[in-house]
Amino acid sequence: MSHPPLHSSMFIGVQGDGIISFGSGQPDLPPPKEVFSCLPTYHDFKYGPVQGSEKLRKALALEYRGFSHENFVITNGASEALDLTLRVIAKPGEKILLHVPYYYAYKPLVELNHYIPSLLPTHDGKIDFADFEKMVPDVKAVVINSPSNPTGRIQEIPTLKKIEKITDDLNIPLISDEVYKDLIYERENYMLHGRRVITVNSFSKTFAMCGFRVGYLFSTDKEIVDRAITLKTHTSMNTNILGQEMAYHATTAPKSFIESHLKIWKERRDFIYSEMVKMGLEVWKPEGAFYILPKIQNSEQFVWDMFQKHKVITYPGEWFGAPNRVRFSFALDIGKIEEGLERVEQYLKER
Ligand SMILES: Cc1ncc(COP(=O)(O)O)c(C=O)c1O
Repeated sequence: MSHPPLHSSMFIGVQGDGIISFGSGQPDLPPPKEVFSCLPTYHDFKYGPVQGSEKLRKALALEYRGFSHENFVITNGASEALDLTLRVIAKPGEKILLHVPYYYAYKPLVELNHYIPSLLPTHDGKIDFADFEKMVPDVKAVVINSPSNPTGRIQEIPTLKKIEKITDDLNIPLISDEVYKDLIYERENYMLHGRRVITVNSFSKTFAMCGFRVGYLFSTDKEIVDRAITLKTHTSMNTNILGQEMAYHATTAPKSFIESHLKIWKERRDFIYSEMVKMGLEVWKPEGAFYILPKIQNSEQFVWDMFQKHKVITYPGEWFGAPNRVRFSFALDIGKIEEGLERVEQYLKER
């Protein structure tokens, strides 16, 4: 049986009625309790500064030694930070390097800005620097996402260091999408840094605040920050001020908040990975984030059938530049992961 064109809007927010969703990339865990502390006395409903709350920017700057709140713009999630960044760093017709598989918004964002995506294949989700080195002289900017959505893979530290150096030598922006920087299971994270690095991050994943839409961009280059502010002034204006206030309070949560969530994510990662291996699926072990991307032939049909016949939501790898793979988010409890995988196993046996 064929299927209609699949689009994420068919699945986002769909729940209930026995549905098990491995679709949406949002934590099902609660935000830190500190975020609620401002609510009883909150009273500000006016426009805020376009660059974002100074208090929040100052709190963020504590993590970026040597730089100040002036190097940040608070945005509507990492999504707006990516969009603003892309819009201010290149000219129509120029090429932007993306590693494949990529987060599904990257390619449309690049194309909507009239740039050309330059797609770098990876090996088991890892960048081979020799391949990168060949492509990079031809592009105007690079986007790195480690840990990655949809692979869950992290890039090797020596590779990241070489990428930092070559983009600096070529004097091109290196956009580092770090929304999963705190969700990493295998080692300490290594954050890209340097003169041409633009960091994009948000409160969506680490602090489980997706719907509040608070993110930011950080750049050591004040000109990029200023251009982003000018653009934001004429597009969305300030980011939701209550969201920013709550995000500020999230930064005051103890480190144990992130550690306790990480423990849960890791249990789920271990469970889903070992179950998929037992099922005989070819799969890369996620080293961060909360996604896994097994190989499944005819993946769009799989996604459609699983949804229609078995009430299981998954996303086709095609959306991420990875045909014949399927993305499973493990942002759901282990009991549901188990039941969902049983339905998948049954379907694959009968197919
Ligand atoms: C890699 C990556 N970047 C950016 C985003 C957007 O996040 P936000 O909710 O902060 O806009 C997501 C969301 O899933 C993501 O996976």
